[in-house]
Amino acid sequence: MFDTLLPRPVSAQPAPGSFHLDVTTSVQADPAAESAARWLRHTLGAATGLPLSPTPADGDIRFVVDPTVPGPEGYRLEITPDRVVVTASDPAGAFYAAQTLRQLLGAPAFRASVVHRGPWVLPCGRVQDRPRFGWRGCLLDVARHFMPKDGVLRFVDLLAAHKLNVLHLHLTDDQGWRMQIHRYPRLTEIGSWRAGSRVGAHRELVHDGRPHGGYYTQDDLREIVAYAAERQVTVVPEIDVPGHCQAAIAAYPELGNTPDERLEVWPFWGVNENVLNVADATVTFFCDVFDEVVDVFPSPVVCVGGDEVPTTQWERSPLARQRMAELGLSDPAGLHGWFVGRMAAHLADRGRRVLGWDEIGEVGALPPDAVVASWRGEEAGVTAALAGHDVVMCPEQRLYLDHRQSDHPDEPVPVGYLTTLQDVYRYEPVPAGLPAEAARHVLGAQAQIWTEHLDSPRRVDYAAFPRLAAFAEVVWSPAEGKDLTGFEQRLARHHLSRLDALGVEYRPLDGPRPWQTRPGVPGRPR
Ligand code: ACM
Repeated sequence: MFDTLLPRPVSAQPAPGSFHLDVTTSVQADPAAESAARWLRHTLGAATGLPLSPTPADGDIRFVVDPTVPGPEGYRLEITPDRVVVTASDPAGAFYAAQTLRQLLGAPAFRASVVHRGPWVLPCGRVQDRPRFGWRGCLLDVARHFMPKDGVLRFVDLLAAHKLNVLHLHLTDDQGWRMQIHRYPRLTEIGSWRAGSRVGAHRELVHDGRPHGGYYTQDDLREIVAYAAERQVTVVPEIDVPGHCQAAIAAYPELGNTPDERLEVWPFWGVNENVLNVADATVTFFCDVFDEVVDVFPSPVVCVGGDEVPTTQWERSPLARQRMAELGLSDPAGLHGWFVGRMAAHLADRGRRVLGWDEIGEVGALPPDAVVASWRGEEAGVTAALAGHDVVMCPEQRLYLDHRQSDHPDEPVPVGYLTTLQDVYRYEPVPAGLPAEAARHVLGAQAQIWTEHLDSPRRVDYAAFPRLAAFAEVVWSPAEGKDLTGFEQRLARHHLSRLDALGVEYRPLDGPRPWQTRPGVPGRPR
């Protein structure tokens, strides 16, 4: 019975008997665990139609917080025929116990209304659980293709159902600016939509001629942040600088390096040369932007991007040459480090740490408390961890979920590295041989969902699932006892039906359904 759980818990011992939920069942909690109990009442109340009353004080399902339970984020779950007791190390642990209870009730508990008329049965026994890593992340790129707000809220629910706890929102890129900034309204008036999109990975400069856009108001984002917090998910915002900025430059041309050429929001994919200029006014502009970002997002970590910054325009720019002279730089790459460093210092003044893609480690931009997202492989992460920086492992060869899931010709828009379900499951976030002192700087790992070729929430579902279920096991479950066959069985026998009940359009294990293919749209496998 407990061998249905995904991600696999630290330990579980079944016992004889079962606990039945019925109209008399109450769900009661310590104040510190009330948020988890409220989620359970609401979610199971909808699926079962049971009232799940919050009283009496010694309710049938009880949530207690006890800091002596191994944590952080840990819980002990004891199910006997006449009661269910959750003892959690903290509110997050209580929430994960509630997620475990929903899994134990079976797939019908994942529906939004009553289909199954009971009985609702929990197996007796004891589960002890806590996550292996504290950073269990997923990046969602809402810049290349906008995800409407309700889709983001749904995605948060899906992360929480897999005990993932960081949603890294990639809010800006060359192809779109998605966050309302009160001080600079043209960022969304102009920057939030483009005239068309390249279809697939064609090399020719052709787009579909169909406008694409959308943005979140600050209240939308506050709603997403609060909704995520209730589900123990931290939303880490990313404003990518000083590259990947063409949408901002289209809105405010004075931020760019091409005063004689008016740029549009980019309708193509790839890395482009239109980076920010290095004027004081541009630094001030982005400090203002980050001020609004920290006002909306309470996350202790804020991502400044810092990836893929071509220096071609700086090489030609008198302003950039002047700045290099002033800073004593011989290489324009130093300007990349200088710009990121200015943003990091500004965020530090506001009590936040920066997260940056691993290029920031190479361009002299690394404040001691910066977190490095190791994406071009693991080397940068190893170097940063050895130097005492915290690191999140995101290698594109292993954890980019927009990359193709099989070598089959039916795989829709196959780009990047072959990344099967099994490849994701086998991923080990702590590189072999990393000394313990450095290994403790590996905060965890993060799966990336870039959306150049994922133009709808349906396509995001296909890319994310079921590989995100394998990823959940990588970052949550103990390294000992890793078992691919066991995982595949739990997935096929129990977990896919939960995803079906939630309406997730995952990739079936034997390949895409006909309507999930994209005949004729070229990819670019690596
Ligand atoms: C990245 O994939 N450019 C972080």
